[in-house]
Parts: sequence; C-alpha cells; structure tokens
Amino acid sequence: MIDIFLWYVVWLSTFGAAAGAAAAVTHEFYYKVQYVLANPDGVHEKEVISFNGTWPLPTIEVNKGDRVKLHLINGLEDSTTSLHFHGLFMKGVGYMDGPVGVTQCPISPGGSMLYDFKVEQSGTYWYHSHSGSQYSDGFRGLFIIHDEEQEAKYTFDKQLSWSVSDWYHLPSAELVKKQLTRYNPTGAEPIPQNLLFNDSRNVTIGIDYDTTYLIRIANIGIMVSQFFSIPGYEFEIVEVDGVYTEQKKAKLAYLTVGQRMSILLKTKSKSDAKSNVIIVTSMDRSMLDTVPVDLELNSINYLVYDESIPMPELPSWIDDQDSFEPINDLDLVPSSHTPLLAEPDHRISLLLHMENLGDGVNYAFLNNYTYVAPKVPTLLTALSAPDSLINDARIYGSNTNSFVLKKDETVEIVINNEDDNKHPMHLHGHQFQIIARSKDFEEPVHYDPDKQDSFAEFPIMRDTVYVEGNGYLVIRFVADNPGVWFFHCHLDFHLEQGLAVTLVEAPDYLDKYIPDDHLQTCERSNMPTKGNAAGNDQDFLNLHGEYVQPAPLPAGFTPKGYVALFTCTAAALYGIWSIYVFGMNDISVTEAGKIDNEKRVMQKYIEILERLKMKSVESRSAEPSAEIEKMLKQVIALNDKLSQL
Ligand SMILES: *[C@@H]1O[C@H](CO)[C@@H](O)[C@H](O)[C@H]1NC(C)=O
Ligand SMILES: *[C@@H]1O[C@H](CO)[C@@H](O)[C@H](O)[C@H]1NC(C)=O
Ligand SMILES: *[C@@H]1O[C@H](CO)[C@@H](O)[C@H](O)[C@H]1NC(C)=O
Ligand SMILES: *[C@@H]1O[C@H](CO)[C@@H](O)[C@H](O)[C@H]1NC(C)=O
Repeated sequence: MIDIFLWYVVWLSTFGAAAGAAAAVTHEFYYKVQYVLANPDGVHEKEVISFNGTWPLPTIEVNKGDRVKLHLINGLEDSTTSLHFHGLFMKGVGYMDGPVGVTQCPISPGGSMLYDFKVEQSGTYWYHSHSGSQYSDGFRGLFIIHDEEQEAKYTFDKQLSWSVSDWYHLPSAELVKKQLTRYNPTGAEPIPQNLLFNDSRNVTIGIDYDTTYLIRIANIGIMVSQFFSIPGYEFEIVEVDGVYTEQKKAKLAYLTVGQRMSILLKTKSKSDAKSNVIIVTSMDRSMLDTVPVDLELNSINYLVYDESIPMPELPSWIDDQDSFEPINDLDLVPSSHTPLLAEPDHRISLLLHMENLGDGVNYAFLNNYTYVAPKVPTLLTALSAPDSLINDARIYGSNTNSFVLKKDETVEIVINNEDDNKHPMHLHGHQFQIIARSKDFEEPVHYDPDKQDSFAEFPIMRDTVYVEGNGYLVIRFVADNPGVWFFHCHLDFHLEQGLAVTLVEAPDYLDKYIPDDHLQTCERSNMPTKGNAAGNDQDFLNLHGEYVQPAPLPAGFTPKGYVALFTCTAAALYGIWSIYVFGMNDISVTEAGKIDNEKRVMQKYIEILERLKMKSVESRSAEPSAEIEKMLKQVIALNDKLSQL
C-alpha cells in the first residue's frame, strides 16, 4: 500500500503543506477497481475489490475546503459499479452522489467516471460502492475531513481512525442470491462469518501513556450493528456522523452500519497502567436470525503501552448482551445548538413491512411499494422533465417511491416499522434531526404525535439512524439542498429487498447540467438519459413499460400462510442443500401461471427431499430420515392444496 500511495503523499507534503494547512488543495486520484485475493480474517481467502490491486482501500484524508477529484475506472470484468461518499451533501453537485438508478447509471466494465466535488463539511465519513450490495466485497474505505478550527476546540495529542465491519466469505452476488429466493421465505439475512477491525483481526496498536487520542470509528459493514467499548476506560463522544457534539462521557457505544463517531480517549500514566488495553466490539446478537455455534460475537483488539506488562483479562460481561446499556445517541447535544425545527410543512408517513410477492421472495415495503430502480435514473428524469410536470411525483415512477419536496420546506419523515427487525436508515444529501424514536415492541406501535410529551430543545443530528423492531422513528430536516436523494435502509440485504424511497427535492431549482461522462456512462449501459421512469420523453405521464414489483401471491395464499407453509421445509433444507440453484426466474403473472409455478417449486422440494431421504437411508441414520419423512408429508399436503386451487 505504501508504494502505491506514496506519490500522492509526496505530492501533498511538497505542495499541500508548503501552501499552508489552511489553503485549499485539490486531491486528484485515479483509481481502477479490480479484484484481488485477500484474507482479512485469516480464515478464508476471497476476491475483494481493490484500488489498483491494493486492498484494504486507503483512508482518504483531506481538509475542509479542499477539492476531491476521484477518477473511478471500472476494471471489474463481470460487474458494474459506482461510488458514493456517505454523509456528504454534494450541494450543487448532486450528480456526484453515486447511487445507481437514483443519480447515475451503472459504470459498466471498462468505463470510468469522475467524482469531483468541494469538501464543505468536516468530521468522519466514508466512501463505498453504491451498486447493489457490492461494497461487501471490500469496496469501502474511510474519508476523513479535518477542520483545524473544530479540532482546536478539543484537547488531544494524537489522532487515530478505525473501521469496524462484518465480513462474509461469500461474494456479494451469492449473498444476495441467498437472500432473495423463494427458498428463504422469511427473508432471513445471511449471517456474517467474522467481525473485522481495520480490515483485519486481532490488531495491536501501540499507544503512549498519559496521552489523549482523538479516535474516529466507522462501521463500514453491511449488516450488523456493533457495540463498542474499551473495558476499564471511559471515553468522551465528540462527533457523530460529521455532527460535533457537546462532550459526552460513555463506556459503551452503539454503531449501526453506516454510522460513525469520534471519541476522546485519555490513556493512563505509567504508574497507573497495570495492564495493556483491549477494545471490544460485539455484533448486536438481536439482529441475527440464528447464532451459529462457531460464530464469535466479540472482536478483541489491543492497545499496547508496553509488551512487557500483562494483557488484561476479558471481562465476563461482554458475553451478556442483555445487560448492555449503550449510550443513547438521542441524549447527545449538537455543539452547534441548532434548535428543534418547527412543525413541519410536509409530513411523510412511511409504513414499513416485509411480505412475500408472487415470486415467493420476501420483499420490504414502504407504503406498500418495494423499491425498483427506474429505467432512467431519477435525477435525469428531473433534469429532462417539462417544467409543468417536474413537481409531479408520478413521472418518477410508482416503484421508486418518489416524494417531491418544495424548496426550503421543513420535512418530517415518520417511519412506523411493522417488521420486528431493526433498520439503520440513511438519508443522502442531509443531516436530519432525530425527533423521536421508540423502543422495540412485540407488536407494532405507531407514532402518535398527541402522545408525545416534548422534543429535545437541540435534537441530535445524524445521517444514519436506526428504527427499532415494531417501533417508530421521526426525523426532520429543511429541504435546502435541491437534488435527488435516496433514503434507505443501510442494511444492504434490506436495500436489495427494496427498503428505499426517493426524495426529489426542489427539482425546479436544479441546475440543468449533467457532466458528459454521466451521459456516456448511460450510453455504455444502454440506458436512456431522459424521459420519465419508463424512459418515455414524449409523454411524461405515460408510464407504460416502467419497471414494477412482482405481482402478489396467487389468490388462495395469504402471505402469512404462505410463509408458514414454506418455512418449516425451506428453513430445514436451507444450508443442507444449496437449493437456490434450482431457483425459477420465469415467474408468470397470470393466476393459473402462478399456481403452476408453485406446483413446480413443490415438485422440486419433493425431489430434493426424496434424494435426501435416500441418502439418509443409505447412511442408516434413522433420525434425519424421520425428519425428512415429516417434511415430505407437509410438502405433499401443500401440493394437494395447490391442485385444488
Ligand atoms: C491506478 O491505475 C490507473 C489506471 O491504470 C493509473 O492511471 C493510475 O495512475 C494508478 N494510480 C495509482 C495511485 O497508482
Ligand atoms: C487502520 O487502517 C487505516 C487504513 O488502512 C490506516 O490508515 C490506519 O493507520 C490503520 N490504523 C491502525 C491503528 O492500524
Ligand atoms: C492476538 O494478539 C495478542 C496481542 O498482540 C496476542 O497476545 C494473541 O496471541 C493474538 N491472538 C491470536 C489468536 O492471534
Ligand atoms: C397498503 O395496502 C393495504 C392492503 O391493500 C391497505 O389497507 C393500506 O391502506 C395500504 N397502506 C398504505 C400506506 O398505502
């Protein structure tokens, strides 16, 4: 890594430093994404996405006011790509935001795109691919923006930055296949194999006595939230998601995927430090559908004063997550003291639920729509629409779940979560105030403004926040950033299941400009660059041919019944047999066709079960054979029911 990035460091230290830290610098990068083999958890080697053959990806550090020009070259032969700088507002340059289908077309193999923007915020950010769930293949890194004025407000001696993430041995494409199949009718998320710390495990970091560190921590994983602690030490939170906070003491913090924080950690004096230090990060077990016996929930890494003093014992409480009481981010106060936004001009109420559609796959819905990317990226629809229709949500398509916001209005988004999973929601283009968040419930509880006593005077702001299972979340922001902004669950499997809406913000104030390489990127992907969501640029209200969600389950099936009938067999078979290779894509939309599909799936089940039964008979193991016999009976009964429909 040193070699490859040395030219850049040299360039910076020669010109950047000479010009003085305050002078704005342009950082220009040419990065070609390509696969390399890596084994960050020491257990399994896999293909990861590198920059110019080097992985982990670099931590990009710039100063507030600098300009970044990153030329991304797609050297992946089998996959499209894109790049998103998570948390940046991209004010005036919304086309640099990166999500495929929202602000740009996918960059096809051999193509390239320039991400060019001025850095106007500061704090801890990160960058990642925003093309499917590709960033789980390692296409993500830290993006740190220094701010002399801000950093001068704290007393610290040294800075460190750490990433934490979950890690999967399967490539992203396989993970999504496992998630989005009729053989996973409950939508159970794949379980990660390990936790990484700075893209490695068992990391040892040398520290000094009597020193205060400013430490930036980002969860760059795709699925699980992590608890963070340094047993025996208290730290002070000073920033979350690029929002500086009043210093707040904490022993345990919680980071969903996409969230970041900065802490101040004061180390002990030589006489007080009886041992070295451990950093414990733990997967939030409540987000895992099952906990495999060999899964290590805790990741332990080390801060070492001196090799000759002992390593500390692992505290026993780390295995008792029920006793965890992480600091509540709603108790943080932004140091800007930005007051609570007034009653909203525009309230968007989103009902979140998960359900199976006619292809048997479990999808996520917001107000009954599961996100399906349009034929034309939504930003390009906004840029090509006639003025008379630009504020009409219909032109952006039914399955993009688009909401049009007026310039400078105060927007409130309420999410009522009818799913029992936690969802880390991320809004592009803004930091929002978190007005209310409920605890989790057994049965869904909706937000009721009349039952709310009061809101914080200076609510904390973030760009990523979780909503609890069966609970609610309320956020507010001012629509002062014209653009097209994605609002989605950052738990990538849920995004693949369609958990997203599109905010078309003040489209009538958009600069009608798009860089040429955006248009070329669309051409290379054979995607239109103008028109409504269906690609119609003659009649923007004619959405004929737009991409929509699959049809519902056949009549006679209720989604709950469907899941109940499938779950026992599918769950039992899942993992025993890689049945998803039998997945069927020719989903029919006619009622008779749908029933026919179900019958064919049942036949597959029967076939697989009979093969399994034969195997277990051969190996003379009586017990699995009885299990399989039971499942066979159930499937045959289901098949009979289908024949009667
Ligand atoms: C990365 O590769 C690209 C394209 O091959 C090249 O232009 C660029 O100089 C390389 N960048 C670095 C940092 O080595
Ligand atoms: C963590 O990884 C980043 C990026 O590779 C690197 O810059 C940093 O020095 C690492 N930190 C530690 C403490 O190893
Ligand atoms: C992890 O690192 C610590 C400290 O460097 C060392 O004592 C320990 O043996 C390592 N454990 C493994 C499993 O590598
Ligand atoms: C979703 O669909 C259900 C059933 O068709 C309907 O009762 C409900 O009102 C819809 N919800 C929203 C928010 O549109």
